[in-house]
Amino acid sequence: MNLTNCDKTTVYDFDSLVDRFDHGSIKWENAKHIFTSDGNLDNLKFSGRPLAVSTADMDFKIAPEIVAAICETAAKFVYGYTVPTAKYFDAVISWLERRHKVMIERSWISLSPGVVAAIHYAISEFTNPDDGVIVQMPVYRPFHASVRSLRRRIVNNMLVRDGKSYKIDFDDFERKAAEPATKMFILCNPHNPVGRVWTIDELEKIASICTKHGVIVISDEIHADIVFSPYKHASYCLLPQELWKNAIICTSPSKSFNMCGLQISNIIIRDTVMRQNFVRRSYMFGFHAPNCFAAAAAIAAYNRAEDWLDQMLRYVYGNYEMVKEFIETKIPQIEVMQLQGTYLQWLNFEALGITGHERENLLRHKAGIFFESGYIFGEGGDAFERLNLAYPKSFLNELLQRLLSIN
Ligand SMILES: Cc1ncc(COP(=O)(O)O)c(C=O)c1O
Repeated sequence: MNLTNCDKTTVYDFDSLVDRFDHGSIKWENAKHIFTSDGNLDNLKFSGRPLAVSTADMDFKIAPEIVAAICETAAKFVYGYTVPTAKYFDAVISWLERRHKVMIERSWISLSPGVVAAIHYAISEFTNPDDGVIVQMPVYRPFHASVRSLRRRIVNNMLVRDGKSYKIDFDDFERKAAEPATKMFILCNPHNPVGRVWTIDELEKIASICTKHGVIVISDEIHADIVFSPYKHASYCLLPQELWKNAIICTSPSKSFNMCGLQISNIIIRDTVMRQNFVRRSYMFGFHAPNCFAAAAAIAAYNRAEDWLDQMLRYVYGNYEMVKEFIETKIPQIEVMQLQGTYLQWLNFEALGITGHERENLLRHKAGIFFESGYIFGEGGDAFERLNLAYPKSFLNELLQRLLSIN
């Protein structure tokens, strides 16, 4: 199997904006409703184009290697039901080994259309109504939304501010894990939105506490490939085996290669009975076969688009440095939190002294910017906005200039 990239000399273009306004993109469709009275672009409420930097997907063109794989699949003329092939599993296993030093067996992997779907399957299979599920707010909203919608109880082990970053309050975590009603913990590693990449020592503490108290861990590692040096992603699978017997590790090429809309993710569960129960539950929720384009795209991504990913990471880190320097010199009332991983920048607006809803209004209607508002991430999020950094520099420059206007 040739695992090298097609053409190491290709320089990918991250400077050109892909205009997604009429592509049915979630964030740009929402922007239409926020910035026009009727969805018609001729009736913009703001003079200037709206800048939507909310939902976590990239406004970059994806790797041409992936597009080629999708076109090849399209040219087969039959889009029937598919199962993941040996090539698919080889690509996933090889990727995890090359990028993350993770060694897994093929039989441990099952598929899910998305990580959010997998979280729903796992909560409903392994917990009961009213059981406690630990989350660490502020955190990706579907974590709390899934717990609530399945009538479980949120147990918040709130993250603690530590300068420009965050840490875990382990005493509180252990207290909450020890409560008899607590059955599960959903870990976000790397963490959306605070940008932390948890260390192997932190994972070991989490795993020891959860093993001791019989708490099942879902480790959502969807952002694992988006980590900036000197930080390194530590997968839950790197822990000693006795510490992750009851864990569910979620990985996907969707964020790394900007193919979220294809909906494919890999769920790693070592214990056979637990895995069988998880798969049975995914059937009960109606999932039985992956999208026929997604597997081909994932194989191309993992086997041939690594160079695109590395270039994208350099570009996005450059964006982080640009945003940080601009804000720190020109708008010091906004605090730029440290970015260790993800392409999502957590910005602290506390010094403005206004509520999240007031700030949201100001940013949308005075500056024409549609951030992911911090309050949606739960407790501890109200003073913040989440900025998606995966845009051309010219776009982010325009956004920074507009931010000056709210001063
Ligand atoms: C932490 C985290 N998990 C899951 C998802 C969504 O995953 P999927 O599209 O596979 O359901 C996101 C998307 O932003 C995310 O940030």
